[in-house]
Amino acid sequence: MHPYSQDLKQQIRTVRDWPKTGVNFRDITPLLQNPSQFRKLIDLLVHRYQSMHLDAVAAVDARGFIIGAPLAYALGVSFVPVRKSGKLPFSTVKSAYNLEYGQAEVELHTDAFAAGAKVLLIDDLLATGGTLLAGIELIQALGAQVVEAAVLVELSELGGREKLAAAKVPVFGVCAFN
Ligand code: PRP
Ligand code: HPA
Repeated sequence: MHPYSQDLKQQIRTVRDWPKTGVNFRDITPLLQNPSQFRKLIDLLVHRYQSMHLDAVAAVDARGFIIGAPLAYALGVSFVPVRKSGKLPFSTVKSAYNLEYGQAEVELHTDAFAAGAKVLLIDDLLATGGTLLAGIELIQALGAQVVEAAVLVELSELGGREKLAAAKVPVFGVCAFN
């Protein structure tokens, strides 16, 4: 485990029964409000990815943007938003998926990557893996390569890591909850 992981995990707040009964919502906003911890998170990710020769960081709408944008800036690579349906103005590819508590669809612009681009896909949290899997499918459909999928929080018991393993994409989670 990375020496920062435990500190960062302590910054995640659990909100019981939100957005519906039975869901323990892992809330990243306390970490974001703490400048030294937010910096630790971005520094940890920069350290992990700076020698991987990435071409782009793709991040999932909306909370993935919060982590993905400073990471892309620090690495000096492209930032690509994977957006919820109906937000991107140019030609797109789209993929629908199920969430822990609902359904959604994500989209990418068709010109988001150069052919063969090496892409890191990032989000705040991995639950069932449906969101990241939909993002991986879109990135691959555009001829780019997903080098890794990274999240701040992994909800280990929801099977997301196994779902992404089937897609042969490595997963990096900074911290995990059962
Ligand atoms: C949450 C979270 C991940 C996704 C994880 O996003 O930020 O993107 O769910 O769930 P999964 O692994 O089961 O697919 P949400 O759709 O709530 O959107 P938001 O970032 O706009 O709040
Ligand atoms: N926290 C934050 N986002 C989520 C969660 C959660 O527990 N489950 C699915 N998306």
